[in-house]
Amino acid sequence: MHERILIVDFGSQYTQLIARRVREHQVFSEVVPPSQALEAAKNGDLHGIILSGGPASAYSEGAPTMPAEMLSLGVPILGICYGMQWMCETLGGEVLPGESREFGFTELEVTEAGELFAGVAASTVVWMSHGDHVSRLPEGFSRLAHSAHCPEGAIANPEAKLYALQFHPEVGHTAEGQRILQNFLRHICGCQGDWTPRDLAEELIQSVQDQVGPDGEIVLGLSGGVDSSVVGAICQKAIGARCHAIFVDNGLLRAGEREMVETAFRDHFELDLTVIDAADRFLNRLAGVTDPEEKRKHIGYEFVEIFREQAKRFSGAKFLGQGTLYPDVIESVAAHGGPTAVIKSHHNVGGLPEDLEMDLVEPLRLLFKDEVRALGLVLGLPAEMVGRQPFPGPGLAVRCVGECTPQRVRILREADRIVREEFEARDEHHGVWQYFAVLTGARSVGVMGDQRTYEEACAIRAVQSNDGMTADWVYPSRDCLQAISSRVINQVRGINRVVLDITSKPPGTIEWE
Ligand code: XMP
Repeated sequence: MHERILIVDFGSQYTQLIARRVREHQVFSEVVPPSQALEAAKNGDLHGIILSGGPASAYSEGAPTMPAEMLSLGVPILGICYGMQWMCETLGGEVLPGESREFGFTELEVTEAGELFAGVAASTVVWMSHGDHVSRLPEGFSRLAHSAHCPEGAIANPEAKLYALQFHPEVGHTAEGQRILQNFLRHICGCQGDWTPRDLAEELIQSVQDQVGPDGEIVLGLSGGVDSSVVGAICQKAIGARCHAIFVDNGLLRAGEREMVETAFRDHFELDLTVIDAADRFLNRLAGVTDPEEKRKHIGYEFVEIFREQAKRFSGAKFLGQGTLYPDVIESVAAHGGPTAVIKSHHNVGGLPEDLEMDLVEPLRLLFKDEVRALGLVLGLPAEMVGRQPFPGPGLAVRCVGECTPQRVRILREADRIVREEFEARDEHHGVWQYFAVLTGARSVGVMGDQRTYEEACAIRAVQSNDGMTADWVYPSRDCLQAISSRVINQVRGINRVVLDITSKPPGTIEWE
């Protein structure tokens, strides 16, 4: 049993961020909607509770709420923004709209440091985002900090172990947010920090063993991406040859991808790996198809067909391994049980058919991506596999504008290899979400060795992003651009022009199709 912090999701856009921040202090965090909070709080060894912010007003009809009993469990509680206002309203204080609205960077004056602000400067910058404010404190509370427009910037009732902040410590803009959270976790909740990748690896291996039993078999679709690779490593260590991995070479992979998966899993991990050589099937199916959505559909269908065929080989296998991560789980929970208006309910089926009637094995379902990466290293996966950039399921097809003929895919693969090599040779890939080549389908006139050329333009696409939902374009160094340009034009037959894509998302998307 790990130390545990419960995060009640009142609908804040930052709830996931709170959960991640807590984990960064090596303390396990769990997100629940208010409707399940009391039950979750009574279930096991709880060290503290954080109440998230949210878009509602605590005094309005239908605002998210939960039993007041949550506040008298004797467990330390930190309310953030709406969480603070809900706490005050519930305990007999008063919350009012207007007047002291604050959005953005705000100077906070700390008047009573106590345990929560220990080591924090007397004047510090915080991130505010509120329209309502606490106008009267509940009994037993006193003020710890204020800003010019918000008298109750931070409050506490240390005897009752209740603390609350009007600002957002979880947001990077709050200069000392991490210290404040650390004070809450370490000093107020008494957490030591027992959530480490090494212990976690052992636990996950054990949990897979427990779930599938002594004879159970798992079928796992391996994509070569970080998540399915880590699941592969866990399952192999848990049940050895009873885990059957399937990797489909669809002819739309990056250079070296198949070899990396084969080397890592077959040679190093001794995983039972089946590589399906299906390049012809996919490329034949894509012949003559130019519409982006049509391409995606064809690729998806072909994956499902191949997996169905393969699943027959393992008809005794009752378990399907998947790399579902915690953000997907939180989104589903929020969509079904919480107050957050989430648009998508994410299912990480990775192109696998859902009617296979197998139980899911999802060892990563409580983890964030950075935790998965740390876990991968502990499990012994190569650093270049664990740290690699995301690669879309439909592969190079969504970067090959127009028809995916075998020749055009070959040209793109070669250009993409050069783009990656030049970024990595200069360490310019660090902190870059994705960096790759696009075959644009645009042809232009050039001259090489006194000869006229009429070939395709290749675009360099490099973006910075936290989650792929929004992105900024990256400006590589001149040196890097120069090297890519001259190598691609000299070495890749079929490309005579290189351009840089300087479109953010929105309004663009990261992939071209
Ligand atoms: P877009 O192009 O929508 O991409 O801005 C956002 C992020 O998602 C990745 N992506 C995909 N990943 N299957 C995937 O697994 C897909 O069909 C797919 N399409 C886009 C893309 O690489 C980027 O990181």
